[in-house]
Amino acid sequence: MKAFYITTPIYYVNDIPHIGHAYTTIACDVSARYKRMKGFDVYFLTGTDEHGQKIQVSAEAKGKTPQELVDEIHVNFKRLWQVLNISNDDFIRTTEARHIKKVQEIFAKLISQGDIYKGKYSGYYCVPDETYVPENAIIEHDGKKLCPDCGRELIIMEEESYFFKGSKYVPALIKFYEDHVKAVMPRIRYNEIMSFLKGGVKDQSVSRTSLKWGIPVPGDEAHVIYVWFDALINYVSALGENNFARYWPNVRHMVGKDIIRFHCVTWPLMLLALGYDLPVEIIAHGWWTVDGEKMSKTKGNVIDPFKIVESYGLDAFRYFLLREVPFGNDGDFSELALVNRINSDLANDLGNLLNRTLQMIKSYRAGIVPKNEDISPLSELAPEILSRVDEAMNEYAYDDALKAIWEFISRTNKFIDETLAWKLAKDPAKSHELDYVLLNLYEALRLTGLLIAPFMPDTASKIYSQLGINDEPVKLLYESFSWGAGAGTRINKSEVLFPRIDINEWQKSKETAKLEQNSEITIEDFAKVDMRVAEIINVEEIPRSKKLYKLEVDLGYEKRTVCSGIKAFFTPEELMHKRVILVTNLKPVKLCGIMSNGMILAASVKHDGVAEALTLLTPFDETIPLGSKVS
Ligand code: MSP
Repeated sequence: MKAFYITTPIYYVNDIPHIGHAYTTIACDVSARYKRMKGFDVYFLTGTDEHGQKIQVSAEAKGKTPQELVDEIHVNFKRLWQVLNISNDDFIRTTEARHIKKVQEIFAKLISQGDIYKGKYSGYYCVPDETYVPENAIIEHDGKKLCPDCGRELIIMEEESYFFKGSKYVPALIKFYEDHVKAVMPRIRYNEIMSFLKGGVKDQSVSRTSLKWGIPVPGDEAHVIYVWFDALINYVSALGENNFARYWPNVRHMVGKDIIRFHCVTWPLMLLALGYDLPVEIIAHGWWTVDGEKMSKTKGNVIDPFKIVESYGLDAFRYFLLREVPFGNDGDFSELALVNRINSDLANDLGNLLNRTLQMIKSYRAGIVPKNEDISPLSELAPEILSRVDEAMNEYAYDDALKAIWEFISRTNKFIDETLAWKLAKDPAKSHELDYVLLNLYEALRLTGLLIAPFMPDTASKIYSQLGINDEPVKLLYESFSWGAGAGTRINKSEVLFPRIDINEWQKSKETAKLEQNSEITIEDFAKVDMRVAEIINVEEIPRSKKLYKLEVDLGYEKRTVCSGIKAFFTPEELMHKRVILVTNLKPVKLCGIMSNGMILAASVKHDGVAEALTLLTPFDETIPLGSKVS
């Protein structure tokens, strides 16, 4: 069986997962699932990049060790892959022993063969991006030298460093790319890499003394291996010996266009030095903007994939990302475009086709798919569509593959309109023709289920279940599909696959949400809220509640009982004698049978409406008298 090994970049753990990360991983997932259904021996790897300055700094700020921090936050990615139905075979973390061992082994080997040597390095360095910026890429502004990627100011850094003699292998790499023009895709990136290589490549610094959180250089522990050198090796370290022999010669790396130099220059040079095969394909995709703007935390327009999936459904999201934009190009994400795709492509074209077909089989043939062996425009089109999809998938042109599938769906919808089954059903002499129509519609849907399975595994499975087929489409093989084999199947109840979204209602709800977000209040409105400094003087467990504590608070002029949903975040000891801010004039409510008379203010980070982190608001100066008013 032919192997197919596909990798995502390993994600920086300190980022909150967003649609950019979801995009790379979903694309790899679709390719992995597709190749499995083509009979390949697939290995699909993803993971997290956990070393580096940023982690060290943010762990210090949180009073944790870097290891504690990455252990906590790498889970954000694992959780997202679960929600996105990602079928990865492995998840590698660069802090795992298997990885660290391999990185040190490789480093030592390259030192021993003279491809890594010690020298002095000085250059412009971007601290947040942990990268030296080459002179020709630096942006000059107001006399300052800025990072071309993040725009922040660069510092000059000088340190003793190990260097990788990549320059030695540049001619071999150029030759390889000349012989393998598909090794970097799309063509525009191939050209970019070739001209970069031909412009000359210097030896690269691959260790840091300024950094502590990383893998030590074997035998010279004052040096830590440069994060990118460490990270790239994940693709090898995850395999182990047996899998390396089995999968490495068929490796494909999927990456965003921003990290192609690391993948198409640094990494292949390392591989040449090690005597390993070079990646068969490195596929670079474009970047998503949001409503025409770059995504950024400061703009607050970062799209949270968890939320999109919650609002619109997983398969609609997976479909949209790969259908909307040709892979390799930049794309713009807008919820309106997503809603339009759901209504037209999914609810209308696909959903209606399924409903109409099942309805007719139920009404005219008591729910049993009739037999018929005549050739139809659909049975003739099917092999052509299968091969167009295959061609597109081999080019990672997901949008073209989906276009071909939807052409088939449209042709099938047209077939319904052309054949007028409801008329045939009225005439017993036309029974053979009716069988022909129903069998062909059913088979078209059975094939469509297979074709969409890599993109929308859950939807494919729902379609199969409604068609009365017990097999999971994702586990089937394209080559075992044979037109007509569905005859005799008893169909199941038809259910709506994608409910139509009422566009007017949707627009109204968006506007209301916007208004709520931006709605201003007057100072008089604000003054209605009475907030005062209070001290927690007693904390009691409420046995019936997982979330609430019963607190007694002292306002100086009176004592109150308050129920507060902070149990998950603090022990009673941590809360005792804390000074907090209490909203005193909230209407009292009964919670778990206890009258709660006020609300303690807290700030929280919420995910899917559930608080993941929470802190209490406390007065800066603890000596301020109890009962002092906040205004
Ligand atoms: N840790 C490195 C990769 C090391 S691989 C040996 C890294 N991580 S990352 O988390 O910053 O980015 C991972 C991927 O997310 C990249 O492929 C990047 O292109 C992709 N995206 C990040 N933002 C994106 C968009 N706005 N749009 C599309 N993809 C984007 O780089």
